[in-house]
Amino acid sequence: MNHCCIAIFYFFFLLLPISLLSHCTRPPIIFNFGDSNSDTGGLVAALGFPVNLPNGRAFFAKSTGRLSDGRLIIDFLCQSLNTSLLSPYLDSLGSNFSNGANFAIAGSCTLPKNVPFALNIQVKQFTHFKARSAELLDAGINSVLGNDRFSDALYIIDIGQNDLADSFTKGLSYVQVFNKIPSVLAEIENSVKELYDQGGRKFWVHNTGPLGCLPQKLALVQNDSLDSFGCISSYNEVAQLFNEGLRKLCQELRSDMKDVSVVYVDIYSIKLDIIANSSAYGFSSPLMTCCGSGGPPYNYDKRVSCGFTGYQVCDQQSRFVSWDGVHYTEAANALIASKILSTDYSTPNLNFEFFCQ
Ligand SMILES: *[C@@H]1O[C@H](CO)[C@@H](O)[C@H](O)[C@H]1NC(C)=O
Ligand SMILES: *[C@@H]1O[C@H](CO)[C@@H](O)[C@H](O)[C@H]1NC(C)=O
Ligand SMILES: *[C@@H]1O[C@H](CO)[C@@H](O)[C@H](O)[C@H]1NC(C)=O
Ligand SMILES: *[C@@H]1O[C@H](CO)[C@@H](O)[C@H](O)[C@H]1NC(C)=O
Repeated sequence: MNHCCIAIFYFFFLLLPISLLSHCTRPPIIFNFGDSNSDTGGLVAALGFPVNLPNGRAFFAKSTGRLSDGRLIIDFLCQSLNTSLLSPYLDSLGSNFSNGANFAIAGSCTLPKNVPFALNIQVKQFTHFKARSAELLDAGINSVLGNDRFSDALYIIDIGQNDLADSFTKGLSYVQVFNKIPSVLAEIENSVKELYDQGGRKFWVHNTGPLGCLPQKLALVQNDSLDSFGCISSYNEVAQLFNEGLRKLCQELRSDMKDVSVVYVDIYSIKLDIIANSSAYGFSSPLMTCCGSGGPPYNYDKRVSCGFTGYQVCDQQSRFVSWDGVHYTEAANALIASKILSTDYSTPNLNFEFFCQ
């Protein structure tokens, strides 16, 4: 082959396939809002709450403040775009916000608002982050994000589980929890609209999982009727009603706001499928924790939770769905993320790479 042919050969057979495969030449900046399901160390940074090993053992080999043995769904989503894992907004040392920031804090609700770290407070923190970036940019500091990066960014929202769960814990009846749903949804709506007013145009909204299948709930709630999967029926029904409202809200947001993408992701169906078909996915005892105490059926005792004196943890080779009774294992999170990325559970069915710039 002469040089020209080599060049053509090289282009078509080596470079072209690579350029077709790597969809994400410029990953989006990501801003995430939520609770422990996507907290990458915010609670520890904010309050010094102890999150000890074995949290983190499967991937980080140390605790990072994530409530899991390894990566969370948000981590896998970042990795799928070849972007770094998100730094918690409140982590002052060693953080790198050039690819976005994570405002999620474990335990967060939408209501009551104006308390740390309710969704509206997380959005206020974002507003401050954006204003500070503009201020620093004006002062000639170029390492911060420019205004255009905020409008191109992807805004992920994953919240609601604690609003429902805490209401049940406080003793509210099914009907009372059901009646709270519209005000929780109104908070999510306000936050999305606030982020839109700040320039956000791309939103990715996770619905809430089957909280009646969490070992923590199963162990604490006595005398409730269980469904065919062994989960608390009333909890899951409320979660589904919330999700139905969230789905409709996303539909409304798409028509109310100009030039937006709002993707609604059905996490509930993904998680329930994994619990219902656990053995087909290679998991055992989907309603039992890997890390906890008390033994079967749930291995959950609120006096001895994972990482605190007296806990017991499963063998690192075993595959559990639930890590600590509330949070999922890295193995389950990896599977959930791969199902999210399939787009089968998304409305509309946009590829995650769509958000690459
Ligand atoms: C991420 O990087 C890997 C390895 O460099 C590449 O194969 C893959 O296509 C990239 N993915 C995206 C979405 O850019
Ligand atoms: C921050 O992260 C970006 C990409 O995620 C990377 O290119 C950059 O080198 C990092 N900066 C520092 C100081 O580590
Ligand atoms: C379970 O519920 C029934 C009917 O609501 C009630 O009579 C019974 O006392 C309850 N048992 C326990 C252990 O709470
Ligand atoms: C379990 O798997 C079967 C077969 O793939 C599927 O039809 C069913 O919907 C799954 N169950 C749940 C609850 O998702």
